[in-house]
Amino acid sequence: MRTQWSLVRLSWRMRLTVLIGVLILHAVNAHAAEPILIRFSHVTSEATPKGHGALLFKKLAEERLAGKVRVEIYPRALKFNDVQALLALLFGDIELAAPSFAKFRSFSRQIQVFDLPFLFSDVDAVNRFQRGEAGVKLLDSMLSHGIKGLAYWNNGMRVMSANRPLRTPQDFKRLRFRIEPSAVMQAQYRALGAATVPMPFKQVREGLKMGLVTGQENAWSNIHSKGFHDFQTYFTEARHSFLGYMLVTNADFWTNLPAEIRGELDKIIQEVTVEVNKNAREKAKSDRQRVIDSKKAEVITLTDPELAEWRTLLTPIWKQFEAQIGIEIIEQAIQANQPR
Ligand code: SIN
Repeated sequence: MRTQWSLVRLSWRMRLTVLIGVLILHAVNAHAAEPILIRFSHVTSEATPKGHGALLFKKLAEERLAGKVRVEIYPRALKFNDVQALLALLFGDIELAAPSFAKFRSFSRQIQVFDLPFLFSDVDAVNRFQRGEAGVKLLDSMLSHGIKGLAYWNNGMRVMSANRPLRTPQDFKRLRFRIEPSAVMQAQYRALGAATVPMPFKQVREGLKMGLVTGQENAWSNIHSKGFHDFQTYFTEARHSFLGYMLVTNADFWTNLPAEIRGELDKIIQEVTVEVNKNAREKAKSDRQRVIDSKKAEVITLTDPELAEWRTLLTPIWKQFEAQIGIEIIEQAIQANQPR
């Protein structure tokens, strides 16, 4: 009798064990089947190189990793401005962001190299620097803060605007320029004789409209997509600096991804980067032309003597930031101006 009861008890135990096992397996499978969510926040319109890149990333990731990855894009600073986005990335509220270089200042002083006036002669020089030793290292310069750089995305050379032609430093007197949160840009306008107002990108159009700021600088795709030319008449192309981005992720999130998913995402990012940079070249030309065609604005090209005056005034800024950035990084940037 006792033996019979223990057999029954055993069979109940076994059934319970099997049942728990099945439930655990079910839960594990359900979890494994859940796609990994990648939230990508950025501040520009979908009609910019970055906006286009974010959408292309979503398309390719969801096609090639169907059922494994889901991507949500938050464009136009709908959720976060750039500075907030970097904190959101660290707190796990988003997984991808692509702020312009100036926004990384609290995490890496070295990245300021990209904003030094007249350091890079053109977009090709910037790209050569990014592919070189210093450029590759800068992608990892924020790892100690938990931020990993995945790629560089281009926009284009910056253009300065105001409601008076900007040709000589005298033209900057009594103007208030919207700047990114950048000590380099602050130094640049101080040297030119203008005041500066740091302001998130989302507020610039309103700031110009209300007259809170009376000048700004940006790439053509941002100027056109935000309609800055509705409130600014003269656009000076001094080719003094470049607007670009670092595509970044939360380092822990990236490391903890399954290796095959991380590998596929890496490939997709490389492919998207090529497209973004191609699109950036095209938009720099086409959006410039659209602004001209609007008949609201005039594009100013500096003469050689005017340009020389700007250079004399602005290149000493390199020295001011040499200790923060590192002389070897600045030297590699200078070398990148020579096509190899
Ligand atoms: C951007 O292109 O992401 C915005 C840059 C800015 O703040 O002007």
